[in-house]
Order: sequence, then C-alpha cells, then structure tokens
Amino acid sequence: MTPSAQPRSAETGRLLERLAFAQEAIAASAALRAAADLGVLSRLHEGPVDPPALARDRGIAERGAELLLAALAGMGLAEVTATGKYTAALTRLDTIAPWLEQWSQLTEAVRSDRPAVRGDTPSGAEAFYPGAVDQLGVLFAGAAAVVADRLAAPGLSILDIGAGAAPWSLALAARHGDCRVTAVDLPGVLGNTRRAVEAAGLGAQFKYLAGDLFSVDLGRAHYDLIVAGNICHLFDDRSNRALLARLFDALRPGGCLAILDELPNEAMDGPRPVVLYALGLLLRSGSGRVYPFTTYVGWLRDSGFEAISRAEPDPSQLISLITARRPAH
Ligand SMILES: C[S@@+](CC[C@H](N)C(=O)[O-])C[C@H]1O[C@@H](n2cnc3c(N)ncnc32)[C@H](O)[C@@H]1O
Repeated sequence: MTPSAQPRSAETGRLLERLAFAQEAIAASAALRAAADLGVLSRLHEGPVDPPALARDRGIAERGAELLLAALAGMGLAEVTATGKYTAALTRLDTIAPWLEQWSQLTEAVRSDRPAVRGDTPSGAEAFYPGAVDQLGVLFAGAAAVVADRLAAPGLSILDIGAGAAPWSLALAARHGDCRVTAVDLPGVLGNTRRAVEAAGLGAQFKYLAGDLFSVDLGRAHYDLIVAGNICHLFDDRSNRALLARLFDALRPGGCLAILDELPNEAMDGPRPVVLYALGLLLRSGSGRVYPFTTYVGWLRDSGFEAISRAEPDPSQLISLITARRPAH
C-alpha cells in the first residue's frame, strides 16, 4: 500500500477538520475585513453590481473584485443574479462593518479586560443598545415564535425585562389579544422598544417601564410570566442572583420565568458558536459571561424556583430556553 492509499485514522481526520476550520475562519474574516475596507459591502447594499463595475466604482483590481464577490457569495452574503451581477443576499449587509470594528478591538480587550463598550452598566447600555437591539429583534424573531408556541396563553400578564426590540414578548402578545406586556428597559432604549411594538401593531397591549432593572419597582406577586431575553450573560454571578431574586418576587405564585440565553456545555469548551460568542462579551461587558445550565439551576433553586427545565427552541440558533416556576404555595 502506498502512503497515500493508507486509510486516514479518525484522529488525523479530526486534526484536518480543525485545521480546515481555522483556515476557513481566518479567510472568511479577512474577506469580510477587505470587503468592508474597500467599500464592497456598502456597494452591494446599494444595489446589484458585476465585477468590472465594482472594480471601477471602488478603484480595485478586476480579478480582486471577481474573487471577493465570489467568496461573499460562497459565504451566503451575496447572490448571483440571472444577468451575472452580484446582489446582497441579506437586507442588513451594512451592519457587518460595525461588527468588524468591534471585533478588531479583541486583542486589547483580552489583554486588559477593559471593554470599550460597557453594556452591563446603565450608562454604557444606553449608549450601546439603541444601535444594536433592532437587529437582535430581527435575529430572534424566529426563535421567539417557537417560544411563544410553548408559553403563550390567553390573558397572561407578562413582564419583559431588558426588552430591547421586544422580540420575545411581541411573539407572545401576537398570540392572544388579551395578553398585557410591561416592557422594562433603560430610558434611552425604550424608544426602540416602542418603535418595534408600534411597527408590529401591538401598541394597545404594551406598557413601558423606564429604569434600571436592578432597582426599578417591578411590583410584587403580579406577573404570570417574566421573560429575560439575552440578559443574564451581561452580568456576573452576584448580579444574576440579585436579579433572579427580584424576578421571583415580581412573579405571582405559580408564575413562570423564561430565560433565553446562550448556554455553553458544562466543560465550557463548546459548542463552538457559543464559546466564540462568549469571547465577544469581552468587547461589550465588564463582567458578563455565558453560564452552563447547572449554574442557572443553582441560582434558580437558591432563589426558590422549582420545575426548572431547558429546551432548544430553534436548532439553527444558539439560544436556549430555561423555564422555572415560582411555587404556587
Ligand atoms: C442583549 S440586549 C437584549 C434585548 C432583548 N431582550 C433581546 O433578547 O433581543 C440587552 C438589553 O438589556 C437592556 N439592559 C441592560 N442593562 C440594563 C439595566 N441595568 N436596566 C434595564 N435594562 C438593561 C439593554 O438596554 C438591552 O435592551
């Protein structure tokens, strides 16, 4: 048998797979960087373009334009039309450039653990989230519909904390016209919440509460369902414990808490998209991290919750659903 004909061991296969991933990740990130720097993303966002026209428009080489457009198409960000032009495959292609900008600060964030953006402080969150939550609303709309399938019921009184563009409570409210939602967020972000709710035509079902979710009065024993979507990963262990205790008090006995968040495995070494997502928290939170399910179980039990369970509403997304109940008696 020649060496090339030898069957590959499983270990070699795994090694090659990892190297291939690293190579692809580096190439994808460099391609996006170049596409942003050279104005290719913005040009695609403006309308269809072929390689010669792109080369002329942006003052780049025609071969470079051709290969970069093909690579963007290969990544699912552009599509080739019947006339051979390339067009943006996503409506929000223009949002990629700010992500690149943020991730370019990772080296410094790892070195210093001093993020440029503090999404975990009220003033930092008010500066950062008005520009970010609309996109999260779009991103989570599909998973929110699945969550609403599980949790929606007529007449629910719902509290949505750190609502942002309110993807979770909007999906719940859309199921039953007699559901009432109180959306809590910082004053500077509630404008986004209002706009998303009005755009969905559900304004009559929503009330807004402006304030810091660690200190604003959430009421006592009032809500049937509290939603905490993408909140816990912003904060440290102590803050999460304090928050869950407040949410326990705000729920009526027998009421349900729904946490939507990205959960790593217990070894904290995967799934790959979750640990990469968690690395990005260094860029926008001073103390945030992702927590495995057992950590949530510990916090929830210590706060008095029962019937704690976990589900994956949408396998194509990172987000998990944790539900827990305030005991009825
Ligand atoms: C990651 S976004 C999640 C938004 C939405 N729940 C979602 O899942 O798309 C975090 C939200 O929490 C809000 N937030 C952060 N800190 C807060 C605080 N101390 N008090 C109130 N809201 C806060 C932010 O303004 C932002 O809307």
